[in-house]
Amino acid sequence: MSIESKIQELLNKRLEAKKGGGEKRLAAQHAKGKYSARERIDILLDEGSFEEFDMFVTHRTKEFGLENQQYLGDGVITGHGTIDGRVVYIFSQDFTVFGGSLSETFAAKICKVMDQAMKVGAPVIGINDSGGARIQEGVRSLAGYAEIFQRNIMASGVIPQISAIFGPCAGGAVYSPALTDFILMSQNTSYMFVTGPKVTKTVTGEDITTEDLGGAWVHGTKSGVSHFVVENEEEGLMLIRKLLSYLPQNNLEDPPIAECDDPINRLEDALNQIIPENPNKPYDVTDVIHAIVDYNEFVEIQRNYARNIVIGFARFDGMPVGIVANQPNFLAGVLDIDASRKAARFVRFCDAFNVPIVTLVDVPGFLPGSGQEYGGIIIHGAKLLFAYGEATVPKVTITLRKSYGGAHDVMGSKQLRSDINYAWPSAEIAVMGPSGAIEVLEGRTILEIKNPEERMAYIRKKEEEYRERFANPYEAARYGYIDDVIEPRNTRFRVIRALQALATKKDVNPPKKHSNIPL
Ligand code: HXC
Repeated sequence: MSIESKIQELLNKRLEAKKGGGEKRLAAQHAKGKYSARERIDILLDEGSFEEFDMFVTHRTKEFGLENQQYLGDGVITGHGTIDGRVVYIFSQDFTVFGGSLSETFAAKICKVMDQAMKVGAPVIGINDSGGARIQEGVRSLAGYAEIFQRNIMASGVIPQISAIFGPCAGGAVYSPALTDFILMSQNTSYMFVTGPKVTKTVTGEDITTEDLGGAWVHGTKSGVSHFVVENEEEGLMLIRKLLSYLPQNNLEDPPIAECDDPINRLEDALNQIIPENPNKPYDVTDVIHAIVDYNEFVEIQRNYARNIVIGFARFDGMPVGIVANQPNFLAGVLDIDASRKAARFVRFCDAFNVPIVTLVDVPGFLPGSGQEYGGIIIHGAKLLFAYGEATVPKVTITLRKSYGGAHDVMGSKQLRSDINYAWPSAEIAVMGPSGAIEVLEGRTILEIKNPEERMAYIRKKEEEYRERFANPYEAARYGYIDDVIEPRNTRFRVIRALQALATKKDVNPPKKHSNIPL
């Protein structure tokens, strides 16, 4: 064969590989409002940056007539490219080839990019659109999944791992995304569940649709499995690019500093008025976040799950930070099981990847009740406590208003090795709120006052005395638990100065195999 023919053969093979499962199946994919595996890579990566691996891999199965059905690439496209000039590794499952189902060779291709990403120290992005284990391959397919899981586990805390779910992701296949740092799901075209509607009906009798069992909205609101719900794939792919802009390539690097023209001393007068006079009135803590961060830009994570706590990424003078903030607008910002789990995992992510944590506190305490106690709020609340206490990244805490009881300790308190703790003049830092405290301390006296008006007046007077004495930032500041009481409108500047001072912070935990966080 002449060299020209050999080159032509290569070009033909490439062309064949790029056809995936063929035009008909590609058209069916498009008809569902979905992009192909290759189109997704093209949208995600910097133009022309994709370098593909293993385009000529085929499966090795000789049963079920599969020996006559060979597709170059075997249903997953893998390789590396760049996002904003930084290297990422990627795999994109191709639903047009055997429904994107995972074979032994398919898994080996994914493992290859994961292994190389670990050596290079670069993020891995997985785009999932698959019918699960390739049925014809039996246990070899299961082994393939387990090979991927093991790599997900080893990569956890070393390189960022992001999963996009743009189609089916069912059975044990869900556990690879679940082991990664962030999951995003596309509205109406994706679903995730361990057991599908048919088996659910057989085993439990429950009649439920795919969407109601494991659609994007369910995982974005009820289970919290999905960190982001996007309207369409393009939005999801752009979001991955944005998310990575806040993150280092690996755990040995610092997050990338962005250019910033937003003045560091920008005063936000509105913040001086944002806390309502009535301590029981809510306000939206995201208004505070938007006001203080660079260009008012905040990427919120799990926005519709456990809305009593807000988490996400932003920048201060170009420095990426993770923000954790109680949300008075939802359940008064109380800490419950879901909020504790949500924030704990985020704090640990930030700590693993050297992202400083800025905490905004307005928390009335932990949510009382048998529902929470039976559900294990003790253990789940401890997760957040543990995560803060274990974190060695720079930690800056601002108490905006309430900071009561155990929740005060949990939310980035000084004693959990927070570095710089500021409070607004509106802060109330105490064992409990005035009404609870007076009920406990003055209960007997209150009962003895028979006249209802006199009783109310007495309660109010006592509450006021308590508020004067304890429900302010100065009691905590007197002990040095609060480093300074700051003017709300100057918060941006003070946080930036704190982060600048802490940029070279070094802190360590004692040597150990690993901690035993209350899981
Ligand atoms: C082999 C598969 C496949 C699979 C789909 N296909 N799933 N081939 N193994 N798991 C093939 C189909 O035969 C079909 O081939 C093509 O992919 C498209 O599938 P359709 O059914 O036509 O598509 P659609 O109607 O969109 O339905 C998609 C689907 C359905 C809901 C995903 O295909 C499905 O239910 N598949 C089986 C899912 C499943 O039970 N997987 C095993 C889960 S257990 P043609 O040639 O017609 O195009 C598991 C264990 C993992 O995954 C354990 C890890 C530890």
